[in-house]
Amino acid sequence: MRWLVTGGAGFIGSNFVRLVLKERPEIDLLNFDALTYAGNLDNLADVRDLPRYKFQRGRIQDRAAVELALADGADVIVNFAAESHVDRSIVDSAPFIDTNVLGTQVLLDAARRAKVGRFLHVSTDEVYGSLGKEGYFTETTPISPNSPYSASKAASDLLVHAAVHTFGDAAVITRCSNNYGPYQFPEKLLPLMISNALEGKPLPVYGDGQQIRDWIHVEDHCRAILAAAERGRPGQVYNIGGHAERANLDVVREILRQLGQPDSLIKFVKDRPGHDRRYAIDSRKIETELGWTRKWNFEDGLADTIRWYQEHTKWWQRIKDGTYQAFYDQWYGGR
Ligand code: NAD
Ligand code: TYD
Repeated sequence: MRWLVTGGAGFIGSNFVRLVLKERPEIDLLNFDALTYAGNLDNLADVRDLPRYKFQRGRIQDRAAVELALADGADVIVNFAAESHVDRSIVDSAPFIDTNVLGTQVLLDAARRAKVGRFLHVSTDEVYGSLGKEGYFTETTPISPNSPYSASKAASDLLVHAAVHTFGDAAVITRCSNNYGPYQFPEKLLPLMISNALEGKPLPVYGDGQQIRDWIHVEDHCRAILAAAERGRPGQVYNIGGHAERANLDVVREILRQLGQPDSLIKFVKDRPGHDRRYAIDSRKIETELGWTRKWNFEDGLADTIRWYQEHTKWWQRIKDGTYQAFYDQWYGGR
């Protein structure tokens, strides 16, 4: 079997590539990634020499590059490639439209021409918008995205839906809640707070810190994507959640507690414009239909993740010292 994984050099993609290579010996995998600021081949240093693994640099919106990646055909495409950070989409939405919207359409069209057997589109619970105190997102919750990031992901989901409806493409969409775990770029809440705490720097909490996210370990997400890619019904959406709703401030305090750092490092900063208040996922469909279950609870997963960042300081220090610093200064400098 031959699988094409896009965005495999990013956080979730690299965890997925490693999982597939380890647990599916029958799969040859081509990782197609543009290596944007978020793509990092160091994330796959331990598997890059495997004969079943290949890498091609390219952008999913580049038709010729995608056709080259599909020249030998593919049984399955798993599409992780995206601009993924809400705050960056507020600063500049252009790359989000380019990659997430245009790129998804180019990939869908190329997959159809190459007669790819299955297209798994990795999406987010953020397409559903924000919840009040009660309730959960289900697969039938109306799409109502609030940020340029989530709107671009919602647009890509609709393009996938249209490809299924119009052309009968065998595409499946997964929508997952907030991931955490090894190799997450330190612009997202958990790795930013862990690495800042390790450096004794202030921890910037937006607004009152009472926004709620449903945290899932990246390994659980990757196993759910694998199940949906192998056994999901074409045309279906599957929600994936961590069953671990936490307020941001509680998560940040727990990180400081585990690292033995004082709460005085917390710095309340100006809120993110349009900040979604609460996300929570009902994942019963993928549990009952595909038999997926979570392995991690949040407390163990957080402790394990903190340990990983303590043991991989060079990995995140290189990122934080590089071009990421310019975004950090621009975004947090004025808050
Ligand atoms: P990430 O930002 O860590 O990685 C994105 C990867 O895509 C990088 O390797 C980057 O180089 C690559 N990429 C970007 N633009 C590209 C392009 N035009 N062509 C080819 N490659 C390109 O993101 P992540 O957190 O690993 O998220 C992966 C996917 O999962 C995204 O589609 C995201 O929307 C979705 N998702 C993320 C979360 C989360 O909590 N991180 C939750 C639900 C869904
Ligand atoms: P983030 O990791 O950016 O994921 P998303 O916005 O996609 O949910 O943010 C998670 C939560 O943490 C979100 O409510 C915003 C908040 N947050 C902060 O309070 N401070 C920060 O510096 C960052 C990056 C996020």
